[in-house]
Amino acid sequence: MTSDLEFRPTDPQFLLNPYPWLAKMRTEAPAFYDAEQKAWLVFRYSDVKRVLSEWKTFSSVVPKPPEQKDFTQTLPFTDPPKHQSLRTIVQKVFTPHRIEALAPRITELTHELLDQMKQHEQVDLIQAFSSPLPIIVIAEILGVPFDDRKDFKHWSDGILANDLTAIQNMADYFRQLLKKRQSHPGQDLISDLIAAYEEGEKLTGQEVLDFCILLLTAGNETTTNLITNTIWSLHEHPDENQRLRNDLSLLPSAIEEVLRYYSPITFLNRFTKVETQIGDQTIPAGQIVYPWLASANRDEHKFENADRFIIDRDPNEHFAFGNGIHFCLGAPLSRLEAKIGLKALLEEFPNLRVDSTESLKPIPTLRVHGLESLSILL
Ligand code: HEM
Repeated sequence: MTSDLEFRPTDPQFLLNPYPWLAKMRTEAPAFYDAEQKAWLVFRYSDVKRVLSEWKTFSSVVPKPPEQKDFTQTLPFTDPPKHQSLRTIVQKVFTPHRIEALAPRITELTHELLDQMKQHEQVDLIQAFSSPLPIIVIAEILGVPFDDRKDFKHWSDGILANDLTAIQNMADYFRQLLKKRQSHPGQDLISDLIAAYEEGEKLTGQEVLDFCILLLTAGNETTTNLITNTIWSLHEHPDENQRLRNDLSLLPSAIEEVLRYYSPITFLNRFTKVETQIGDQTIPAGQIVYPWLASANRDEHKFENADRFIIDRDPNEHFAFGNGIHFCLGAPLSRLEAKIGLKALLEEFPNLRVDSTESLKPIPTLRVHGLESLSILL
């Protein structure tokens, strides 16, 4: 007989609910060396915060095998001063204004997907809605022609699975798109990134490429999981579901609660530059550290009734988007997509419910929290 408190990273039941184990680790071994993963696991809110903010000690430049070197110079894998110069220029182009301006188009795309769903009584939410929405939105931002979009899901899945062919294909595709935009600029992010580069700023052609690929990989699965995890959490909490149904103005705070309660990214990677101390543990220099966001977000020292799902929780200072200098650049975009997408979904399908006869299948990795499919009745 297995216990909820055991670490069973390949067991679907554990992946669906790692929270009892995380709670045990916060109490018994808040900074823990896992010999199998050769990494230090950090579980408490205050320690996770420290790991994310003290970049001089906990570097984002994590050693990678030579065949993966291509992607080591993108934002999340750099430290200052490189990180700061990249982020400053990218922020000039990926602005809140640009994101807000997308709202009408996101609404349109949402309704196109929902109209297709209306032809069915039962669909997989992920296939029909949560997966295509962020992919199409990012493709639009990047100015990718409509006909090329079918390959994206495949590539972004491949990159997450470290499939080198998929990485290569995507890089080749963006190299060509970059060339086209260099000679024929449009009203898209790639053209703007190139212009910033041509005006003597710091982005090289390779950095533009890396950033495009980063947007596709960083933004798709995470936002998909946020949308799906919302319907999943509401299904598991019928009272909160009803409360939201009665008052959809609670949706933005409900989305924040889903980010906390079922954080799409469970842990991050850091690398110690110098010896340091967490609690009573001494971590030598040159060690891999995993700050556990999903654990910090359930820390009872930070959140009252941390294991309860409360759609109007306030305050709610979760770390689902990270913290410090690497705080998610796409947070406003994913919040906007989730808000528009979920509002329309709940309004258009007042009887939407999860098909309880189908068992839930988690994405088979501990790094993300989400489902492979979610069958819903409309
Ligand atoms: C629910 C959706 C999302 C979640 C949970 C999420 C989570 C995160 C987290 C935890 C980080 C910090 C990484 C670190 O400190 O090592 C991060 C960084 C980042 N995210 Fe997101 N993200 C989401 C959506 C997006 C979207 C839609 C985009 C863009 C289209 C995006 C782009 C980025 C970028 C560029 C960074 C790197 C920032 C930096 O290193 O300065 N993310 N994200």
